Amino acid sequence: MQKPSTYLDYAASTPVEPRVLDAMLPYFSEQYGNPSAVHIWGQKAENAVERSREKIATILDCKPNEIVFTSCGSESDNLALRGVALEARETKNARHILITPVEHHAVLNTAKDLEHLHGFEVEFLEVDSLGLVSPEDLTSKIRSDTALVSIIFANNEIGTINDVHALGDICQSKNVPLHTDAVQAASQLSMKVNELNVQLLSLGAHKFYGPKGIGALYVRSGINISPSQTGGGQEFGLRAGTSNVPLIVGMAEAFEITNATRTDHNEKYRKLRDRLLSSIPNLVPDSRITGHPIHRLPNHASFVFRGVDGNQLLAALDAAGFGCSSGSACKTGDPTPSDVLLAIGLPAQWALGSLRVTVGRSTQDEDIEHFLGVLPAIIEQLRKVNS
Ligand SMILES: Cc1ncc(COP(=O)(O)O)c(C=O)c1O
Repeated sequence: MQKPSTYLDYAASTPVEPRVLDAMLPYFSEQYGNPSAVHIWGQKAENAVERSREKIATILDCKPNEIVFTSCGSESDNLALRGVALEARETKNARHILITPVEHHAVLNTAKDLEHLHGFEVEFLEVDSLGLVSPEDLTSKIRSDTALVSIIFANNEIGTINDVHALGDICQSKNVPLHTDAVQAASQLSMKVNELNVQLLSLGAHKFYGPKGIGALYVRSGINISPSQTGGGQEFGLRAGTSNVPLIVGMAEAFEITNATRTDHNEKYRKLRDRLLSSIPNLVPDSRITGHPIHRLPNHASFVFRGVDGNQLLAALDAAGFGCSSGSACKTGDPTPSDVLLAIGLPAQWALGSLRVTVGRSTQDEDIEHFLGVLPAIIEQLRKVNS
């Protein structure tokens, strides 16, 4: 099988940055103690975990004990929704959850599970054709029995960035916690939780040049939340299990590097992204940009092509040496139109032909020019075959 030579799927995952790998390595073999142990091996491991927690807290501008390590962004979303909803039902008989129709499946399916297994009523906030949540709609839908609101920060499929600060103001005025899934946003946007005005925020390290298998959830002090995993008292009793020391160290290192270099990388990403956004609609007939033209992730370009099968398009691009995606990495191979694209009002005929192109630290101008050179012919060919 031919391997893609040009990776344009940085929203799905990123390579571990060499400095991150170097920081992690000693914790696999030399400093292998269990952070819960009393002896010096345990103390060294515990110090590494707590230093990492402090580094992440500094970037979020919060207290270290507000950071809970998890195994991934999905687990962070699960802990936020289940933990807050179930606790709110116990303590204040809350039964209502508000989410958007453009959430990642980690939020959507957790909310559905809370509805089916635990009797919550899940209500969807409206999004416009660009994927933005309306503050008026949020204001009108929050109820006295709302357990929590969950709104994606930057959308993985269409790149749209919500005004989380303004939405957070509304939730705060109604005294309802706001969770934001910042798994995509964290590689490019500020994560200062007080400026964002959120009570819970999910992160996953593999989206910002850290390792897979590690994530974190910010939980503001005072938020009542029950554990997702019971056992030992690790992670303030919210997530039992021996801490994954090397991955925690790697996540903190990757996040520090990302935060320090974000502005420069974003500038480069924007140029590459804008070249894609301005060229593809001219080069390919019957094509549209999806997501917001301005309020979108700097590295994210997404499109739909009428009458094209998105999976065939990804396979043809792969054969031509390009690794792209149709939206969420988890969706690849699924022949049904994406919920996100249907929610922003695209007919199935368009939504089935979606393409997400996301650039990263190694992407060069030539990669984009090469891509633009092959895409129109591939689409023309697919349309011919299917007509
Ligand atoms: C917005 C969003 N939320 C959650 C996730 C899940 O993150 P993880 O792969 O770390 O479980 C992803 C991954 O694509 C995502 O894009």
